[in-house]
Amino acid sequence: MILAQSATRNIGVVILAVVIIGFLVYLFFNLLETRGEGGAEIELAANRKPYHSDDILETTKLDQSLLSGLFLLSVIGLALPLYWLGEPGRQEGLVENTLHLWTEDGAEAFEESCSSCHGGGGAGGIASFAITEQGTGAFVASVDWVAPSLTSLLTRFTEDEVIHTLNFGRNGVMPAWGAPGGGPLTAQQLDVIVVYLRSVQKDADAVQVAVTDGLIAEAREEWVLRDPDLSARFLDAKQNLARAQQTGVSSIIEEAQGELSNFQREVGETFPNEQMAAWLDEISDPSHEEYLTYGKLLFINRADSGAYSCARCHTAGWSYDGAFDLDIAGNPVTTVTDADGATVPGYLQGGGWFGPNLTNGAEVTQFPNVDSHIDFIRKGSADGIRYGVAGQGSGQMPGFSNRLDDDLVEIDEFGVEVSKNWPASLTEEQIAAVVAYARSL
Ligand code: HEC
Ligand code: HEC
Repeated sequence: MILAQSATRNIGVVILAVVIIGFLVYLFFNLLETRGEGGAEIELAANRKPYHSDDILETTKLDQSLLSGLFLLSVIGLALPLYWLGEPGRQEGLVENTLHLWTEDGAEAFEESCSSCHGGGGAGGIASFAITEQGTGAFVASVDWVAPSLTSLLTRFTEDEVIHTLNFGRNGVMPAWGAPGGGPLTAQQLDVIVVYLRSVQKDADAVQVAVTDGLIAEAREEWVLRDPDLSARFLDAKQNLARAQQTGVSSIIEEAQGELSNFQREVGETFPNEQMAAWLDEISDPSHEEYLTYGKLLFINRADSGAYSCARCHTAGWSYDGAFDLDIAGNPVTTVTDADGATVPGYLQGGGWFGPNLTNGAEVTQFPNVDSHIDFIRKGSADGIRYGVAGQGSGQMPGFSNRLDDDLVEIDEFGVEVSKNWPASLTEEQIAAVVAYARSL
């Protein structure tokens, strides 16, 4: 629409230019053709009532008529194109004003319907959820399910895909909002919320800062888990908190939270940010023996409530901290078998949940060629489009590279109108690392 407006403006400019040049040309020739006086007619035809003298007729009177004609012509010739020139501005103003109003309405609707789980401004948050046993429906555990930040959503999904999620909800944890899924909001209310979400998207730098900060926290936890003493204390503190939460008594919960914070402060000093950042830098080199660990940390990155992670869709239990949460019997909600055959709290990373199981070499079979695997992670899936050897896309697998939105226009650094470019969630190096990890599962 904005493109069409600029076309209207261009036509307006051309017409104005033609009118001005034409007028100057006319003026030029008119002046050239001005001749001297040819004689006084009143003296040649004496029966005629004297009118203005020729001098007056051919000077003042003629000038008056010409001037009034010229004035009217100018109105048509200049004012119309000028009006036309202003029109796109008025239309743009209208569009901008409408967008502004929609963004405001969307912000209001978002605060009302979404922020309780997704946080103010869509910064990410938590949804309380009751896990029940499949089949019997018996209560298993009450958990805090991460509701991802929505501040980089539009780079991973198209607006149509977002509307689909809003219409039908997500995995029963997020309710359906649109009429097609039986939800309370109208299609226009959903559109308005999406327009609002455009206004809270992070820029490329802010996304990378969030991803990197998240990786540093994951790196620290990796070091804690590798130290038998620290990992035992960490597990204790987390499970104490889970037990405290089951009591529902706020003083007990606060005490357990305090203990966990103290522990986290201590390991923060033991493994400072700079040390973790330097380690990450080292292992992000594809030839480093811990390169796959780097891929894993990206896979499970909790930054922005897991927005950039894979585990939230491909690892059962990860979204609610199931390895540390306890069920009503006091057991960890998710467990794995360790090297000695014992059952321990943990996740089957990439074992499949909302997204398919990526383990047992499934990905090497689906994408025999690494480049096509990388390309899939960059772009994500599209509804009804096949991928890999035998994949069928639903549009729900996000794309982690940048996304061009042809329906939105922005002005680039040269002042040219281009498609909106939403910044990538992961850099090309990060995508390669996460793919290497997924192929190793
Ligand atoms: C009851 C809590 C709750 C409310 C209210 C809620 N959501 Fe969600 N939403 C979630 C959870 C939890 C998820 C992640 C679900 C999962 O892990 O499959 C989610 C996922 C999403 C996603 C997918 C994001 C992604 O990156 O995969 C979008 C988009 C979304 N919500 C938008 C909204 C909007 C817009 C509203 C308000 C109209 C809203 N949500 C209200 C809990 C909620
Ligand atoms: C919002 C949920 C979500 C997130 C986050 C997500 N995926 Fe997926 N993924 C899916 C879904 C759903 C599919 C199935 C394809 C479809 O429905 O379009 C899928 C499919 C895949 C496939 C193809 C699997 C096959 O064998 O068919 C791969 C590989 C994959 N995802 C890897 C990843 C990686 C790597 C990440 C993190 C960088 C990731 N996914 C993040 C939901 C997700």
